[in-house]
Amino acid sequence: MSNNNIVWHNHDISKEARSDLKQQRPCVLWFTGLSGSGKSTIANAVEAKLYALGRHTYLLDGDNIRRGLNARLGFSHEDRIENIRRIGEVAKLFVDAGTIVLSAFISPFQEDRDRVRAMMEEGEFIEVFIDTPLEECERRDPKGLYRKARNGEIPDFTGISSPYEAPQHPEIHVKNSELSIDACADIIIDYLTTKGYIHA
Ligand code: ADX
Repeated sequence: MSNNNIVWHNHDISKEARSDLKQQRPCVLWFTGLSGSGKSTIANAVEAKLYALGRHTYLLDGDNIRRGLNARLGFSHEDRIENIRRIGEVAKLFVDAGTIVLSAFISPFQEDRDRVRAMMEEGEFIEVFIDTPLEECERRDPKGLYRKARNGEIPDFTGISSPYEAPQHPEIHVKNSELSIDACADIIIDYLTTKGYIHA
């Protein structure tokens, strides 16, 4: 497939103009962690706090996106790469719209996360490591998937039969098993406030 005949259009209303209108600095809070680590739960709590502060947000969630945009993708290495690539592109569009994006995907491979980071401008990609030990995720097993994976019913299951590469230098490191959801969410809100993405 050739994209040679496609020309990029520049529009009058810029990312800066859209962000100024919203009175915030757009970014993507890229949550990464094992299934059951608490990514969606904490992202949901952060979005509620941002909403209460009058901020403009959008939450991209693994299980939901896999029912729509990425419904035809599975969990092979190639499909996970494509899953994250598409999410990265969608997140970039929302950032361009001036929005604070929260994305909650396992995104197990550092290379894929780094590729999304490279797509964004400096400071727009905030890697949030939801660090919950595998044993704890497996004990919680909210969807019963670890049990199935252990029984060999789900191939390529992250942490069991497919690797998870923990971030080495995340902007935010949250040890979910030691804190309440509210405390985890506050760490992230504090980061956004301190770094000037939002004004509390
Ligand atoms: S990712 O690895 O491609 O980033 P994503 O976050 O979109 O994964 O989807 C993960 C969710 O899909 C899990 O929370 C779980 O509910 C479900 N799932 C189904 N099969 C698998 C699998 N083989 N490995 C991991 N998660 C799976």
